[in-house]
Amino acid sequence: MSAKASAPGKAILVGEHAVVYGMPAIALPLSGIRANATFRATRSPLTLIAEDLARPPLTIDTGSIESSDPLALMAALTVQYFGLESLQGEIRVQSDIPIASGLGSGAAVSAAIGRVIAQFHGAIIPNEALNRLVFEVEKEHHGTPSGIDNTVVVYELPVYFSKGGSLDFLEFADPLWILLADSGIASLTRDAVADVRTQVRLAPAQSARVFDDIGSIVNEARDCIDYSNGARLGELMSANHRLLQALNVSCPELDHLVEAALHAGALGAKLSGGGRGGNIIALVEEETAPAVKQCLIEAGARQVMLTVAGQGSQIDDSD
Ligand code: MEV
Repeated sequence: MSAKASAPGKAILVGEHAVVYGMPAIALPLSGIRANATFRATRSPLTLIAEDLARPPLTIDTGSIESSDPLALMAALTVQYFGLESLQGEIRVQSDIPIASGLGSGAAVSAAIGRVIAQFHGAIIPNEALNRLVFEVEKEHHGTPSGIDNTVVVYELPVYFSKGGSLDFLEFADPLWILLADSGIASLTRDAVADVRTQVRLAPAQSARVFDDIGSIVNEARDCIDYSNGARLGELMSANHRLLQALNVSCPELDHLVEAALHAGALGAKLSGGGRGGNIIALVEEETAPAVKQCLIEAGARQVMLTVAGQGSQIDDSD
């Protein structure tokens, strides 16, 4: 007996970091890059194999939620959710989502593990419950997350999200053409979030002003999505990048990619996710996408992917 499940990557359109402090943010699922999990029944204790994540096989004590390993914790929380005494078998994880690149790999792998255990058990785990479990793992292993990553990855819909507040699923009047360009620099969101927290402690008033400005950008960006104002949305994304620079979460390589995208005709560009590395996103038009993509490659991007949000957020193309 076997089972199969998956969950997508994600990109933050606007609002990262400020969302940790109660501001809204908008995130998009990346349905074309996914974490996949399969479950195969065996007579041995539950084992997790995730070669793509550069980790050795792990035997999981599903009776313990004290695990120091995020994926083991996710498995144990799911086993507990279904009230199972124990679980034997082998979970294999394969993921197309680059790790430490701001694309939601951790949340997607957890969601896929939760779903595959549910399916093997002959059940469906409701998104609301799965979201809660993945958030538990994020809290335990990724510092002080806002909850936006797990939410967009589990529901696989564009979200307007604020911590402990709004969760609206967005509809796009017109699709958004977005390029994601990878700086090739691995960066842990947890570290960037911790550094911003230090800055908040050292300069609370200044940080609060930046968060407020980002919050206003996110709300205006939502109107732009509703009214198909791509030109203004692009400006807002670039303004958001400048505020992220002020928060010290950019780096020269990300700034260089943002500049290259704008120079090549993108409507706007910014880092996406935790920053300090990982990806930038650039808003483009169907006609400008190839030229901007070429410029990003020439500017040193390791990989450039096109996603059309509002059409199922598929990744259509990559280099
Ligand atoms: C990471 O995708 C987004 C951050 O705002 C962290 C979080 O919201 O948990 C940087």
